[in-house]
Amino acid sequence: MKRIAVLASGRGSNFQAVLDALGAGTIRAECVGLITDNPGAYAITRAREAGIEATVLDYRAYPSKEAYEADLLAAMQACRADLFVLAGYMRIVGTAIVEAFAGRMINIHPALLPSFAGLHAQRQAVEYGVKVAGCTVHFVDTGMDSGPIIIQRCVPVLEDDDEDSLADRIIEEEHRALPEAVALFCEDRIQVEGRRVRILPPA
Ligand code: GAR
Repeated sequence: MKRIAVLASGRGSNFQAVLDALGAGTIRAECVGLITDNPGAYAITRAREAGIEATVLDYRAYPSKEAYEADLLAAMQACRADLFVLAGYMRIVGTAIVEAFAGRMINIHPALLPSFAGLHAQRQAVEYGVKVAGCTVHFVDTGMDSGPIIIQRCVPVLEDDDEDSLADRIIEEEHRALPEAVALFCEDRIQVEGRRVRILPPA
């Protein structure tokens, strides 16, 4: 059985969706840890309730990003996870970590990449005036929200949407797409060919 670990910075509803899928058996894996950069993250409470070890690395207490990332790398290595899931982890991951876990780190982003990378993706979508928005699960590479795409799901943007109403519609799809991608990884059904990802049929 594969070992997965989750990185989250805040509320952790995507982390919860993964925990629920583990509980339901739709993801066959063991969650071996949560790592957060934010001591106030509600994701910590979710981890404790699920009996999962939470490692808190308070980003603001570090003298530099380099010092923080050195501890983050060590914490990730200590997990001995097959897959790291960035579920609302709000920092750009440095090159050393991306390279250490190449092909074993995935991220959920609340936009149809490559549109609206970075922060406030839903606000960017509303302000741009797109008619379709959504979410993307992708591998993490050294760019920002730029790695090979595993799953995308779309939702309509309604004329009276604001950032929050659109985010509410998108997150429902996130909670389906992220566990689905984790399950595919755990079943060895994701094949990466350059930028393109092929989903293999069930064994
Ligand atoms: C989610 O919408 C996730 O896609 C987004 O933060 C939210 C976290 O919610 N992530 C990013 O914007 C990363 N660039 P959650 O803590 O309830 O899962």
